[in-house]
Amino acid sequence: MQADQPGPVLEVRGLRTVFDGRGGRETVAVDDASFDVAPGQCLAVVGESGSGKSTLARSVLRLVEPTAGRVRYRGTDLTALDRRALRPYRRHLQMIFQDPYASLHPRQSVLRLVSEPWRIHRDLMPEDPCARVAELLEQVGMPPAVIDMHPTQLSGGQRQRVAIARALGLEPDVLVLDEPVSALDVSIQAQVIALLMELQQSLGLTYLFISHDLALVRLVASEVIVMHHGVFVETGTTERVFEDPRDEYTRSLLAASPHL
Ligand SMILES: Nc1ncnc2c1ncn2[C@@H]1O[C@H](COP(=O)(O)OP(=O)(O)OP(=O)(O)O)[C@@H](O)[C@H]1O
Ligand SMILES: [Mg+2]
Repeated sequence: MQADQPGPVLEVRGLRTVFDGRGGRETVAVDDASFDVAPGQCLAVVGESGSGKSTLARSVLRLVEPTAGRVRYRGTDLTALDRRALRPYRRHLQMIFQDPYASLHPRQSVLRLVSEPWRIHRDLMPEDPCARVAELLEQVGMPPAVIDMHPTQLSGGQRQRVAIARALGLEPDVLVLDEPVSALDVSIQAQVIALLMELQQSLGLTYLFISHDLALVRLVASEVIVMHHGVFVETGTTERVFEDPRDEYTRSLLAASPHL
């Protein structure tokens, strides 16, 4: 996929995700969300805990089934596809989670973990998987020696780098990053963010970047969506939203955030 193709990479329209709770109580986690993500853009989603950021991300990828609405990826309506038809698209849209333990089996080697997605997306299986894994590890700043190690033997930052390498092995177009550095020490956060920004540039990736860290969002994102109780209360360029917040909730979020 080319970053320079015209039109948005993602077009989300009227996306709604409702969870059924106990006693028939419903949670509207995402309510009527509409937005575009342009090629090569980093669009951030901010909001307090429980505002629906992760559900929005998961719904876009259909890791959670949206109740209503449309998600178009480079013109293809992903919400109209059945599971089987959706499968080939999955590789183009990869998700990076806050806690790589959630996506990396602790007892598998790095080699196994990074090569595993190729078993599903067989057309992407390299001729020499071992060499390709080493290459991917280098791309994320890891020495080849970690290839035989297990996630338990790695630091949090290294685990996240492995998770990124694993995603890159599918040659994705879009990365959906859900609090990708929130679980890491501050010094490590900066390194992983630097890596993500460098990869975005060099590979022409498009990012949907979820974070509650406004200082970080200001650094990495070109546009921002502010979510509150499942609703977009404000969207705009990062500069505009930070310099001239129009919504009351956005103002309170900014006021509560140190180091801005
Ligand atoms: N699988 C689920 N089943 C039922 N309710 C859910 C489920 N996942 C999320 N919710 C509810 O949906 C709402 C939004 O949750 P979500 O995890 O999307 O918020 P978030 O903005 O990602 O929060 P955080 O910053 O803590 O990660 C919350 O009220 C949450 O309790
Ligand atoms: Mg979340």
